Amino acid sequence: MMSDLSTDYPNLPKHLAFIMDGNGRWAKERGLSRTMGHRRGVRAVKNIVKAALKYKIPYLTLYAFSTENFNRPPAEVSFLMKLCTRSMGKYKKFFIKNGIKFLMIGSVDRLPKELQLAIGDLRDATETFSELTLIVAINYGARAEIIDAIRGIVRKKIPESGITWETVADHLHTRGLPDPDMIIRTSGEKRLSNFLLLQAAYAELHFLDTYWPDVDEKTFIEVLREYARRNRRMGIVQR
Ligand code: FPP
Repeated sequence: MMSDLSTDYPNLPKHLAFIMDGNGRWAKERGLSRTMGHRRGVRAVKNIVKAALKYKIPYLTLYAFSTENFNRPPAEVSFLMKLCTRSMGKYKKFFIKNGIKFLMIGSVDRLPKELQLAIGDLRDATETFSELTLIVAINYGARAEIIDAIRGIVRKKIPESGITWETVADHLHTRGLPDPDMIIRTSGEKRLSNFLLLQAAYAELHFLDTYWPDVDEKTFIEVLREYARRNRRMGIVQR
């Protein structure tokens, strides 16, 4: 319950970022196709979005597709693109009803036209909301983001002496958004894999053995507890 959590753990994070990993292995262990794993992955996305609303976490970032994911077999890439496109259309009403603002980070360049349209449509339909900001990383890679930022700064001819961290932050895809307080990766892999490298400078890192399709509200509560535990330790060190 919300009251329990906020009483026990006054330090709730403002921004959680998930690297959704393990859809393929989840499916393989059950003798199912990888595509079935991704379908169940969407169900887990909904679980986590609902939990973020329930526990009033204002920012949630989900890594759906990396620049490197384009190297997967074309049929799987195409399936993931269609799944993202369909999910955005399907959940549009849910976003509006719950006051969820949708943002995308990454490059739309290589994405199919339908997905580009779905992203633009969802962003426009939800831009005034603020109950929860859901940031989905699609065709995102931190190195590509940093190149984009440098190009933007050079294009504006900003003088060398005027470049601060704020200048750089203002040119990242995440401009205007708070840094993640904690980055969580599922499936037992312990790497950031080119995800939010600069924004992760002070983030807590948390690795779960759970495969993404098995992630639910209970997992989310465990994440909040882990965050609170670490924050409490930090407080003790500072005192
Ligand atoms: C990682 O599992 C998961 C992905 C690459 C895709 C995640 C995307 C979704 C769940 C759809 C998101 C949709 C919306 C609307 C945000 P994996 O395939 O890398 O698993 P494996 O490492 O076990 O092979």
